[in-house]
Amino acid sequence: MSLIEHFKSKGPSGFGYGTTAEQATEGLDLKGKTFLVTGCNSGLGEETMRVLALRGARVLGTARTEAKAKEACQKVAPSASGFACELSDPASVRACVEAVKRDGARLDGIIANAGIMALPSLEQKHGYELQFFTNHVGHFLLVTGLLDRLTDAGRVVMLSSDAHKAAPKGGIEFDNLSGARDYAAWRAYGQSKIANLLFAKELSTRMPKPTQTANAVHPGVIQTNLGRHMNPVVNVVFGAVGPLVLKSIPQGAATQCYVATHPSAAGITGKYFKDCNVSPPRADAEDAALAKRLWTETEKLVAGLP
Ligand SMILES: NC(=O)c1ccc[n+]([C@@H]2O[C@H](COP(=O)([O-])OP(=O)(O)OC[C@H]3O[C@@H](n4cnc5c(N)ncnc54)[C@H](OP(=O)(O)O)[C@@H]3O)[C@@H](O)[C@H]2O)c1
Repeated sequence: MSLIEHFKSKGPSGFGYGTTAEQATEGLDLKGKTFLVTGCNSGLGEETMRVLALRGARVLGTARTEAKAKEACQKVAPSASGFACELSDPASVRACVEAVKRDGARLDGIIANAGIMALPSLEQKHGYELQFFTNHVGHFLLVTGLLDRLTDAGRVVMLSSDAHKAAPKGGIEFDNLSGARDYAAWRAYGQSKIANLLFAKELSTRMPKPTQTANAVHPGVIQTNLGRHMNPVVNVVFGAVGPLVLKSIPQGAATQCYVATHPSAAGITGKYFKDCNVSPPRADAEDAALAKRLWTETEKLVAGLP
């Protein structure tokens, strides 16, 4: 298939690489539904919040600070409510869980979108490598804390990435979660993203109601603030050729909006999606025993956090 054919192709869902979030949700009436989106102040999270609100949903948008979240809501979705949730700070995540509970909304979906990528040198929080802690542990705390707020058909969507294929052999280095033994930027990002996938897989088996779902998505490759830690030269090149070879932000937000809202995705659980269609991840991302182990190790880890 040529590149142009690939960009135009559509999968069984009727959507494909070039679908935008508006197209993936076209005709849907989300009035009366509520979605929580993490990382609502930038890139894919901001577009996701905008489009869900456009379709009539109430959105709870989270950002590192309440001010950032409220500013983002004001900018793209004035009907949305902003909450602080600094994912690398367990106290902030727990406070977010409590604030959402006080708000009283039942959640039709949680889109765990926030993330950081490829930190050039090792950074840690509470003794754990920062990408693993932010992308996986922070969202583990948030999502498990809010499970009882999900509606009976509530959907959890974890932002993973095809970069999960760069995770270490075996998926997760349980004996090196600090990153102290050795550290490589992309391998650590890959580990955090395979963790997002494994979390969705295990969560799909633990959902309180059989009609609730948990899936992971790869949004595509999109130029956003995510590249802030990359070599500036690479960012300049991306900036120049990006519009030709990368997805736009509206296209990048399509898969998470599709999986969170579309009737044809109802009931699909424990899967990995890209371009709005189910897609096979790396083999060990489907390993149920590994997913279970990550869950129990993360439970132990969070029990030891301040
Ligand atoms: N863009 C791509 O090509 C691509 C490809 C595959 C997967 N993804 C995934 O897609 C998701 C969204 O990425 P994006 O491209 O939209 O990136 P982005 O524009 O950088 O947005 C990331 C969001 O996450 C927030 N965030 C980062 N660290 C946080 C923390 N400690 N606590 C709370 N929020 C935090 C950021 O807040 P601040 O602005 O305050 O830092 C921002 O709102 C990520 O999970 C990423 O891994 C993206």
